[in-house]
Amino acid sequence: LPRELIDDFGRRVNYVRISVTDRCDFRCVYCMSEEMTFLPRAQVLTLEELALVARAFVELGVEKIRLTGGEPLVRRDIDSLVAQVGGLSGLKDFAMTTNGASLPKYADRLREGGLKRLNISLDSLDPERFRRLTRTGDLARVIDGIRAAREAGFERIKLNAVILKGRNDDEVLDLVDFARQEGLDISFIEEMPLGDVSDHSRAETYCSSDEVQAMIEARYPLTPTTETTPGPSRYFRMADSDSRIGFISPHSHNFCASCNRVRVTVEGRLLLCLGNEHSVDLRRVLRAHPGDIEALKRAIVAAMSLKPERHHFSTDGDVQVVRFMNMTGG
Ligand code: GTP
Ligand code: 5AD
Ligand code: SF4
Repeated sequence: LPRELIDDFGRRVNYVRISVTDRCDFRCVYCMSEEMTFLPRAQVLTLEELALVARAFVELGVEKIRLTGGEPLVRRDIDSLVAQVGGLSGLKDFAMTTNGASLPKYADRLREGGLKRLNISLDSLDPERFRRLTRTGDLARVIDGIRAAREAGFERIKLNAVILKGRNDDEVLDLVDFARQEGLDISFIEEMPLGDVSDHSRAETYCSSDEVQAMIEARYPLTPTTETTPGPSRYFRMADSDSRIGFISPHSHNFCASCNRVRVTVEGRLLLCLGNEHSVDLRRVLRAHPGDIEALKRAIVAAMSLKPERHHFSTDGDVQVVRFMNMTGG
């Protein structure tokens, strides 16, 4: 078996995003519908299966793993998975994307388990608006979570803000100021058409990264940096702050040509692109050959030829992917 994963377009895959649960204690309007049903437990990978998947990827040259969800911190015993993955040698970057609400409880244990970086979603600094955007979220808890993460010693904590016109686009500068005060990076994200969210019309709420960037530059001139994480963000710096500003622009600045990542869905489907359905059922392999890492690695290597060249998302408001983001791993 090869020591590196390379797809048919010559792109090296060295980053895997693993969704550890489809559940979440929030119901963000762009991510979930109000009435979500969640998967029965038998369909979700066990923690042992997840740990084996992570090890298989690292043995195939993957250097960066990000745990996502749903909300990864609602998965029972997530800290034991973090400790197992954190102990894999060869892994250079180990991160998690979370809504932050459970960080007061978990931040220390995650850090001790070897997690290196946290991305925390934060779309508004107004408690009532935060509640409307997340439907169930409590802003004060998330702010506590952000501070708990900092105190636990996480470096370069990054905020993620999905900007929707008419909903939170007037908060761009407030969010930047919060990131500056707290010493955090922040990425602004264009909403993607995953799942029929019914709460708003995505065509009407589309707000391009260039518009967001213009709002920021009205107060803080931005200089591009070549620093990468390596994820999809394009990063900029302000003259008088360590905080970095990132833009994730799947619509306006397609980044598929430099794609280095694949995802494992909560059901163990190896998904080769967020915006397409090409996938391989790793759960079937795991359950037909329990504990057999070589069988798993063969399935992963074979899957690489299915990775499509790019997504074809559009901003016309149609749902292009029926899968909701919480199944997919953000
Ligand atoms: P870093 O490691 O800090 O660079 O994180 P990241 O930006 O890769 O991950 P994060 O989980 O913070 O994701 C932020 C946003 O980027 C989410 O909305 C993701 O869905 C989106 N994103 C990440 N990878 C891809 C991708 O391959 N394609 C698309 N279209 N969006 C992606
Ligand atoms: N489009 C863009 N970003 C989304 N996220 C969730 N759903 C969407 C969507 N439809 C973001 C969350 C979180 C990250 C994992 O994905 O805000 O920051
Ligand atoms: Fe939960 Fe994150 Fe989806 Fe919000 S975006 S509902 S916090 S998984």
